[in-house]
Amino acid sequence: MNIIDIINKKRMKQSLTDEEIKYVIDNYLSGVIKDYQMSSLLMAIVLNGMNEEETYSLTKYMANSGDKLDLNFLGDNVVDKHSTGGVGDKTTLIVAPIVASCGVKVAKMSGRGLGHTGGTIDKLESIPGLVVNLEKERFLNQVNEIGVAITSQTENIALADKKIYALRDVTGTVESIPLIASSIMSKKIALGTKKLVLDIKVGKGALIKNLDDAKTLANLMINIGKQNNIKVVCILTNMDIPLGNNIGNSLEIEEVIDILKENKQGSLTDLCIEISSQMVSLGLNIDYQQAKEKVLESLSSKKAYNKFLQLIEYQEGSLDKLPKANSKYQIKSITNGYLIDIDAYKLGVLSMHLGAGRENKEDKIDYSSGIIIHKNINDYINSGDVLMTLYTDKLITNIDNTIFKISSNKLKNNPLILDIIK
Ligand code: URA
Repeated sequence: MNIIDIINKKRMKQSLTDEEIKYVIDNYLSGVIKDYQMSSLLMAIVLNGMNEEETYSLTKYMANSGDKLDLNFLGDNVVDKHSTGGVGDKTTLIVAPIVASCGVKVAKMSGRGLGHTGGTIDKLESIPGLVVNLEKERFLNQVNEIGVAITSQTENIALADKKIYALRDVTGTVESIPLIASSIMSKKIALGTKKLVLDIKVGKGALIKNLDDAKTLANLMINIGKQNNIKVVCILTNMDIPLGNNIGNSLEIEEVIDILKENKQGSLTDLCIEISSQMVSLGLNIDYQQAKEKVLESLSSKKAYNKFLQLIEYQEGSLDKLPKANSKYQIKSITNGYLIDIDAYKLGVLSMHLGAGRENKEDKIDYSSGIIIHKNINDYINSGDVLMTLYTDKLITNIDNTIFKISSNKLKNNPLILDIIK
């Protein structure tokens, strides 16, 4: 067997065998297969796809490519969540403390930014002092003691995914249904997850651009879950526009606090309530309405906010000194009318250029940079109103003037939750 034949096979739209996929994973991990060869194979997969059998094999070998955790000792009330990645998506940082404060345990392993989408670990790392790579014992002890821990993929878990994920980020090979499904599910299998809520983002700012593809991805991940004794609930959500108002790492932490402490309302809060309710329902084996009442109570009583503070304290972070960019640029409207679109993809790319994401594998993130959007869909805009503020220490020129769409009529239908598949 050799990698060139395998790349050519996929280039010719043929299916790879279980043995070939095992060969690729083993030899990429050991360094025999080089990054440039793996990139080439990944691009062939992006272009020509993989069938379910190939995807199951890829998931299995990535799940087996490191240590496995056993969460059974934590009890039956452990629930995980994962998002396929969006712009301004800080839901994990809101949902995890809500759910933990309702008595459901969250042992969360999160990723860094991927492509134009941000990653929870980069956001957490913007909090000075915060430890994002918890060792296995510390991670599990923390979940046991306070019900929640968030760590990066540092333990030897799904090592092949870790290496491939970083490569996909910088080789234009992120947007592929089998690669996304196997990446997410291999981590969940290795982590010992038994109950999982997946937030599948659909739209301009997401990795998946249309509802049909999102449904295919949902069903694929549900099937991988069934094979591995994981109960999966998929929530398909709109990502045409960014989630919430802040994009960029420390700015997103500020928005998390606005929601948990200051009761900020809007679509981000609504989505967090939905995901949390599904997780609490699964974790406590109670019906959805009962779960939602618990979630709303946790938010209004500030139990969720206190749990967030406890999480940050346990992981040694200090919220007093969140980094702030020195320079701000205000972008103003030049027309009047209703705001009917905010292009999440363009803002994701802009925020990456401002310093909030990586263009190359080695790039260092500027945690203080990013964007605050001051208007929401269907707000009336007057010429001269500030639409967004850019935070960056870089020099800014030429901002795309098609990011915001303004019209004389309001947008009629703008659902946040597009479907729920179990
Ligand atoms: N999240 C992951 O963990 N992997 C992907 O491929 C996409 C989103």
